[in-house]
Amino acid sequence: MHDFQYKNETLFCEDVAIPKMAEAVGTPFYLYSTATLTRHFAAFDRAFAGIPHITCFAAKSCANIAILRLFASLGGGADIVSGGELFRARTAGVDPQKIVYSGVGKTADEIREALSAGILMLNVESEQELAMIQTVAADLGVKAPVSFRVNPDVDPKTHAYISTGLAKNKFGIPITEALRVYLAASKLSNITIKGVSCHIGSQLTQVAPFVESLAKVKRFIGQLSEQGISITHLDLGGGLGIRYNAEEPPEPAEYARAIKQELAGLACTLILEPGRVIVGNAGALITKVLYTKEGLKKFIIVDAGMNDLARPSLYDAFHLIQAVERPNREQAVADVVGPICETGDFLARERAMPKVEADDLLAVMSAGAYGFSMSSNYNSRPRVAEVLVHGDAFHVIRTRETYETLIQGESIPEFLVS
Ligand code: LLP
Repeated sequence: MHDFQYKNETLFCEDVAIPKMAEAVGTPFYLYSTATLTRHFAAFDRAFAGIPHITCFAAKSCANIAILRLFASLGGGADIVSGGELFRARTAGVDPQKIVYSGVGKTADEIREALSAGILMLNVESEQELAMIQTVAADLGVKAPVSFRVNPDVDPKTHAYISTGLAKNKFGIPITEALRVYLAASKLSNITIKGVSCHIGSQLTQVAPFVESLAKVKRFIGQLSEQGISITHLDLGGGLGIRYNAEEPPEPAEYARAIKQELAGLACTLILEPGRVIVGNAGALITKVLYTKEGLKKFIIVDAGMNDLARPSLYDAFHLIQAVERPNREQAVADVVGPICETGDFLARERAMPKVEADDLLAVMSAGAYGFSMSSNYNSRPRVAEVLVHGDAFHVIRTRETYETLIQGESIPEFLVS
């Protein structure tokens, strides 16, 4: 459930009419509902009530500092994957002790920043990275809190580009080799072993792969304890899917129930890194029809392109597209395409949707996760504004970029100036 609803044939976000915001902000823009974000966060977090846990929102899915602050105010933390995300999380006021740092390629500088900030733990993905963390921690004179991301070799049954827990993927340390790495780490002077992590993929629509990987991780934690290594944190990553079209993913409560059952008897703090399940359906991309044209096919040309929302081009992802006004018009099949000079620039293909014309507004739904955060300046298009609705008020939480922002940092070297 989300808070984008029609009132008298006009789409509202909470109590604000979308055309009103389009007029004030211009198009395209990303739009988020505070009520939906809050409800989704609370539903997820509450599902794990009764066991010690921290819901560390996956910042990569929607990294605006206002959104990170909202979740921090609800008791959440952040799962980060770069120095940039650490900076965002800290600026938003996320408690460092609720920040976990994942990713296969952390640089020495990023490791230094994370250790200096006093984050909860770094999820280490290779032995060379462990050696780097030991060096940086020794240099700083601190003990680095770490967990190792183990790769359980489980098929998450999702899109190949977002599967991470298979042996052939680049992520983590094979679970079969992890014991040796933990034993080596336990002998390092500037390393404190805190936990075990795993994340097997994104947009999972079944509970079974989560349970299968947890069972493997649990067995591994048993092996660790036989070797005298006890852990205090178990990080299960993110990955719970949402409904874009006809998917029927488990509700957070069902996911939590299965995990709690499989966890039984394990005394550690659970870390969860949900992204999409919290923000995906809490956001939409609002775009305006520029032109329509009809030849062999019918095209609706809008002012948002693959640089604004990459998911359809990149993963052939489905996003429902709704007419913001008069949704009950006659339907027609069309391709919804952007202004970018590539055939792959589409938001929908051969889609039955309301017949629209120039100046009509469209809402590309379920765009809250991996929408703005994956947008780029391709074709020298300024990145769009982000707007957060709260009841009957709306707030621009990121202004639209300008032509000046586009060339910020660029310069023409002396030899070309004549
Ligand atoms: N934790 C780790 C270590 C991750 O790599 C990810 C996502 C998450 C948590 C959050 O996963 P979520 O709960 O959002 O599924 N751009 C793709 C998705 C990439 C996911 C990358 N990792 C998309 O648009 O579908």
